[in-house]
Amino acid sequence: MLMSMDFASSLSEWYREHRRILPWREDPTPYHVYLSEIMLQQTRVEQARSYYLRFLDAYPTLSDLAKADLEDVYKKWEGLGYYSRARNLHLAAKAVVERFGGELPRSKAELLSLPGIGEYTASAIMAIAYGEKEVAIDGNLLRVYARYRALALNPLEEKDKKTAKEGLLTLLGPDPSIFNQALMDLGELVCLPNGSPRCGDCPFRGTCLAHREEKETDYPLKKAKKEKKTEKLTVLLIVHEGKILLQKRSKGLLSGLYGLPTIEGHVKEENIKSVGDLQGFSIQNIIDLGKAKHVFTHRIWDMKGYRIEVAEKIEGIWADQEDLKTHYALPTAFSYFLN
Ligand code: ADE
Repeated sequence: MLMSMDFASSLSEWYREHRRILPWREDPTPYHVYLSEIMLQQTRVEQARSYYLRFLDAYPTLSDLAKADLEDVYKKWEGLGYYSRARNLHLAAKAVVERFGGELPRSKAELLSLPGIGEYTASAIMAIAYGEKEVAIDGNLLRVYARYRALALNPLEEKDKKTAKEGLLTLLGPDPSIFNQALMDLGELVCLPNGSPRCGDCPFRGTCLAHREEKETDYPLKKAKKEKKTEKLTVLLIVHEGKILLQKRSKGLLSGLYGLPTIEGHVKEENIKSVGDLQGFSIQNIIDLGKAKHVFTHRIWDMKGYRIEVAEKIEGIWADQEDLKTHYALPTAFSYFLN
């Protein structure tokens, strides 16, 4: 087995040649690392790239973010999904201004005290921005380590993440920032999940135990897939003179965000007029917009949509195309009915 210096030096040599050029690597301040790691938790690198640049353009510092309106922050996040990440970033920015003078704290315990920062993000900031001896275990790092040592680790098990963390800490070299980022790139470019690892390109092809046994794809253990619940919804695109009615969602998925009004269940066209929520309207025309599905992490929305033209506006939030472009962030789940 390679000694830790050998592991870390092979890894950093590989990284020097193959690393990806990514915007958050150019100036890895604590805020930049924090923002990128939050974005990358549920978003692919390629998609995160442009969002990251636009977000920083709008909020160059945590103090700027703290001063922003939450609705504007959501707008910058529009299309990325998992909006609680944006809400927590905004909350954390305010807390950083109030409690730490606008700079992210340097201790892991203080980082962990901020909204939305858990073990992974705190470790990533400590290692990548501050160069401290930490390893941030996500699915990629767990997979690389499980294969390297041929360990039956499960990425959903906290104790297995801890095993990977402790194991990788023993292999850590002199530069924790490079060590972590190199493992992220190795996991995303070479040590790929499922049937396609590129072991021929791997700096550890001679020392990886799973590769030696030709059992790369046995590790890590497959996550047990959670059954997703399907929810039936009727989505209402209520239109008056080029404006549509929005609703601020108050419960369940996407709570706190603007969306199109929804009703539980699938309502038939002939029954639309008797829906309670539509009693205040004088309906002129109804068009069936068909069905659409949106898959969330733990849930599926099975939607049926109607475009309902009404003769007059009742009180509510009415938005035209320009408002939708510049002001309101509508979750992607609704986009099928907007186009
Ligand atoms: N995946 C998660 N964090 C990453 C990072 N900082 N660079 C590249 N890929 C990542």
